[in-house]
This record gives sequence, C-alpha cells and structure tokens, in this order.
Amino acid sequence: MNIIWHSKSKQYHLYNDKISYIMGVTPLGDLGSIYFGKRIHDKEDMSYVVNRFGLPNIVVDPDTESYSMELNRQEYPSFGITDFGTQAYEIELVNGSRVSSFICKDHKIFKGKAKLNGLPATYATEDEAMTLEVYLEDEVAKVSLTLSYTIFDKYSVITRHAVFTNNCTADIKLTRALSACIDLPDQDYEWMQFSGAWARERIPEVKKISAGSVSIESKRGVSSANQNPFVIVKRPGTDDFMGEAIGMSLVYSGNFIAQAECDTFGRTRLLMGINPDRFTWLLKKGNSFETPEVVIARTDEGLNALSQTYHELYNNHLVRGKWKNTPRPILINNWEATFMDFDEERILQIASKAKEAGVEMFVLDDGWFRERNDDYAGLGDWIENPKKLPQGMLGLARKVNALGMKFGFWIEPEMVNPDSNLFRRHPEWVLSTPGRKASLGRHQYVLDFSREEVVDCVYGMLKKVMTNAPISYIKWDMNRSLTEVFSMELSADEQGMVYHKYIMGVYSLYERLRNDFPEILFESCSSGGNRFDAGMLYYAPQAWCSDNTDAIDRIRIQYGTSYGYPVSSIGAHVSAVPNLQTGRSASITTRANVAYFGTFGYELDLNHITDEEFEQVKKQIVFMKENRELLQFGTFYRLRSPFEKDQASWIVVSKDKKKAIFGFYCMRSNVNQLPGFIRLAGLDENTEYELLGEKYYGDELMNMGITLKKLKDDGMTTGQDFVSYVEVIKEA
Ligand code: GLA
Repeated sequence: MNIIWHSKSKQYHLYNDKISYIMGVTPLGDLGSIYFGKRIHDKEDMSYVVNRFGLPNIVVDPDTESYSMELNRQEYPSFGITDFGTQAYEIELVNGSRVSSFICKDHKIFKGKAKLNGLPATYATEDEAMTLEVYLEDEVAKVSLTLSYTIFDKYSVITRHAVFTNNCTADIKLTRALSACIDLPDQDYEWMQFSGAWARERIPEVKKISAGSVSIESKRGVSSANQNPFVIVKRPGTDDFMGEAIGMSLVYSGNFIAQAECDTFGRTRLLMGINPDRFTWLLKKGNSFETPEVVIARTDEGLNALSQTYHELYNNHLVRGKWKNTPRPILINNWEATFMDFDEERILQIASKAKEAGVEMFVLDDGWFRERNDDYAGLGDWIENPKKLPQGMLGLARKVNALGMKFGFWIEPEMVNPDSNLFRRHPEWVLSTPGRKASLGRHQYVLDFSREEVVDCVYGMLKKVMTNAPISYIKWDMNRSLTEVFSMELSADEQGMVYHKYIMGVYSLYERLRNDFPEILFESCSSGGNRFDAGMLYYAPQAWCSDNTDAIDRIRIQYGTSYGYPVSSIGAHVSAVPNLQTGRSASITTRANVAYFGTFGYELDLNHITDEEFEQVKKQIVFMKENRELLQFGTFYRLRSPFEKDQASWIVVSKDKKKAIFGFYCMRSNVNQLPGFIRLAGLDENTEYELLGEKYYGDELMNMGITLKKLKDDGMTTGQDFVSYVEVIKEA
C-alpha cells in the first residue's frame, strides 16, 4: 500500500496489491479522475488520458486550450463551469450565485485514518491504511474543501468523504454536499440495488445503465427498507463467481441518494451521499461541514468477493469494542410470544424454559414501561411499569441472572406517544410544522433529536434504567418515518439542516450510551430492517434484519442482505408456526437452518412446542455454540440464488479452509426432476473433506459439486416444500 504524489505531473497514485486509484490536477487546477481499477504500474505522468478537443466544446478560458470538464472525468464535480452532468456539491453565495470552482492548493499524505466528527466511519491503524487529504479552495467564494481518500492495505477499498469550510465574511448555503463521485470511462455497466419495504427488505434488483440516469434515494429520515444505501455497478455477466464490479456503501443512516449517470460522451458518473432534496446547510463563517463516508470497494472476481470485502472490512474496521469479532450470545426475545401482554411471572416462564434449552440471554421487548399496554401510550416515559415489573428492571434482571442467563431490553428512544408524560410536558419537542397537524405513525410522534436538550433528556432517563440493573444487551428500535420535518428551535434559514441534525443527534446518543456501557451489545432495529446500514453498525454491531420471521421469506431477505453486510450483523431468530407474517409452517429444523446464518436466537415461547421439537432446540443450541464463530465470522459465499430458483444455498468457510458449513434450502418442491448438483465454494482444492460420512476432494466439491441425492431428502423428489439441510464439511 502506498500513496505517491508525482509533483511534476501533479498526479496522485493510491495503490495496494489489488487496486490503483489515480487522479491528477487538471488544466483548470481542479481534481480530475484518471483511473480506478485493478492495480497497475506506477508512472510519472498519465495526463495522456485528458481529452482535449477543439470546438464546439465550451472552454473555461483560452489558456486551458481546448480542455472542457464535460469531456473529462472529475473527482468532485461542480455545475456551471463546462460540466453539464450532475454535480457533487453546490454552494449558494449571499449574492445568489451557485457557481463555484475549487482549485487544488496543497495536500497531506499520512499513515492511518483520521476520525470523522460525530459521524460513524471505518477506522484503521497506521499499518492498516494510508490517507490522502487534498486541500482545494474556491478563491472567489472564499470557501475551502478537503477531499479525503483512505486506501486500506488488505482490502480493495477506498473510503472517501469531503469537508467544506467557510472562510468568507458572510454565511453561505451548502445546497448539496455528496460524499463522493466516481467518473468511469465507459458505459458498459449494470446497476444493482437492494429495495423492498417492511417485511421484504433488501431484495436485489438489476438494471442496465444507459443514457440518462438511474438513482435510488431515501427521504424518510432513515436509510429505509425501501432502498438500502448500498449499490453495486457491475459489468454485464458479472455474477457471484466472476466479473468486475464496484460497490458503494454509505456509512450513514439518514436520507441518502445513490446515482449512476451516463452522459452522451461515454462517461458514467457514480454519486453517493446525503440526499440533496430537503437539505440546505447554513454554513456560518468560520464553520465546517463534513459529509458522511462512502466505502468504495472493487472486485474482478465476482460479487461473492465484493461482499466478502465488505464483510471483513466492517467486521474488522467498523464494528468497535467488546463485540468486534466476538461470537454473539444466543438469545430469546419475548415479542412474538407475548407482544405487550406480559408480567414478570410470564416472562420468567419463558426465560426458564429457554435456559433449560441452553439459551444464554433473555431480551425483554416492548411493553415494560409506564402505560405501555398497547402502542397508543407510554413511548417517551422510560420508567418501569410496576404492574408488569413489581421490582423494576433490577428485580427481573436479577431473577433472569439467577437462572444463569444474561438480560437485555428494548427501547425506542427517538419516539413519543401523545399519551405520555414526556409529550404532555414538552409538546414542542416533536418534529412538526407550525400551524399544521403532525402526522402520527404507529400512534407516535418523532422527537426532535436535532435539539440537544431533547437528546439530553432521553439520555438521562435511559441511563438511569440501564445503570440500575445488570444489562448486557439493548435493542434500539425506531418505528416510523420522519414527516412534517421542522424544528421549533431553528430559524427559517436553518430548517434544511433538520434531517441531518436529527441523525447526528441519534449518533450522539448512541455514542454516549456506548461510552457509558462499553460491555453492552446493541442491536439496532427499525420496524425490522428499516435502518440496516453501515452507519448503524459503527454503534450497534448487529441489526434486526426484518420483522418477517418466516424462514422461507427470510432466506431471500438474508441472501439479499449478505451482498453488503456480514452474517455477524444479521439478526435472525427462530419463531413460532404458523408464522405470524405469512401463515407458513416450516419445520423447527428449517427455521433454525436459516437463523444459523445470522446472530441466532429464538422468538417464541418454548413451553408451547412439542417435546420432540424441544429436544431439537437443545441440539440446535449445542450446534450453534460449537459453530457460531465460523458461521458469523467465516468467509461467506452465496451458492444458489432464491431469486432465480426455488432453491437456495450458501456456505461459510473457515479462514484455514479446514471446516465449512453449507446450507441448502428447498423453498418449493419440483416434482419429477433429477436432483442435480450444487457446486460448493471457498474450499481448498487439494484437501480431502468429509461430508455426510463420505470423503471428497475440495476440487471435486467445488467443480463437480455435491449431488443433492446425497442429502437425505432434497424436497424435489418427495414433493415436500420448505425442507433444508445444514451440513458440516471437515478436513478428513
Ligand atoms: C418493531 C420491531 C419488533 C418489535 C416491535 C415492538 O416492530 O421490529 O421486533 O420490537 O417493534 O413494538
């Protein structure tokens, strides 16, 4: 890994063993893109890539000969000076001008990676990464810009973000401040996004990129289940095992945009960052604005390799503290078993039975506080309901601990019900627009987390309950989108700042609670997977993946999630059948076979299953305890897509390739077909492995594949839906 500055040609080359990222100062003095791809030799001057044509292109001034931004690739383009594509940023000056131009002034190259200010971001030591900061200035506007690039030694990854500083005497407005732009030199790409809604999150969708643009966005105040802030741009034909692709993942949990734009001169422009719609940042003189970070990864070995890069990077350089690379406790959550209708006795019945099965932690879900007996009341009053918890959280936690289990509970700190003491005391603390009714979502308002005093107050209440009892885990929920976004505390000129200030408030509360309780495992949740993003993983290393706990639907949801996020982050539980969301009944084996490829836990009352099922649950827990390190932190490969066939398959392989765990799922049986083969991946070609009592070479399993006949029942020949197998493969 290195970052070279060629002072004569004014070019930068960031490289490691896998990738090269080259850029240079253009004839106009701004920063232009030269190359991003597989590692290439370093060279003093690559300015031959700059396009210079005569008329009819518009040129900025005669000295630049015939250089036009429109015909060249930019690093962080502006609008209004010979580039007609979508701009990465826009500044509105007091005189109303929205034209700006940043000229390179200086740079700094250093080992390691600097922290972002109040924002989640990847981190690295001096041996693990190098950073280049390019300092630019708009001399007319008197605004400076820092473009920051970090290259990691071991990963095909560049992270980027930008910082604007207002050095002029007046306040200015940033009306757009994206995190990064990548201009690619051709247009032979497909776009892959991960879309959905509640209970069907992160479903991959591929479309051809062609003239014009394709984009996804969120304007809900959360990253959203509708569009995930992670996209892939790939060559046609690229699949999980071969081909070139670039991923862009935003380390941010609020409104975002991701876009690919093809112009008519062969350039493809990729952009990602905070959604400029509903964003205007009043940048007061002397102040700075920092964009979130975007993690740009590249592969020429297919999408499994791209996903593995994100999995490892996020496990090693985003997740922090005690839970970094730590296998997750097997928990039981009472939500689907009781909803809000419980008391201490009922909870202890569920917990005791779970303990008997080997479960390690009990999680008390929604309904423990104040008048919270349905979703009309209580949010905002983080004080125990004495009818349900007569000796408070402390009493219950102690009893659960006495059973030999850890204890955790559910919160939804960003919300308030109109029927709550907090709202009665502070109606002005909710997001609402003057003179208009505020919309309710699940009978609740959104607290104005852009205000420090609101965050302080919630922090005080939560800290008290968390301090008073021995807590090992917190599930942090967020159950509605933001509407009528307006803060009573801010001026008219500052209302465009509320969405971003809100999420900064969320991050600050997370950071304070994490610092106070470094041992606690946080799991984020937002009506299931409505805020499953890299930003959240910095604070909460796992996320409840979806409220849809049906094993068959979960195969799709977890498969789609795996493109951008590690198995260790995917909250997955075994729940009761018929499933509450779909009415389907998959066996307890299949339900566990899906949940193994996640954080694993139970969300049902184990008192209500048959003795035979209970015996299976005990075995499942033994299996998970034995294998969770491999399942959660091994190298994960998608093998067969549930979006293409009625079957799905995946495998995790240990780093030393001596052990692997393979999952196969028949979602819908197909009668009168040959069983076929499934080709495994990631094994060592020359190692002899044992699988289902027989021996196979790695190359045999990966090239010829395992015949599905070998699985006791593949569901195709017997006409059974929802059968599945999880098999351990070990060096013989
Ligand atoms: C959301 C979560 C669920 C559960 C409920 C509680 O829907 O996704 O898991 O915690 O809230 O109200």
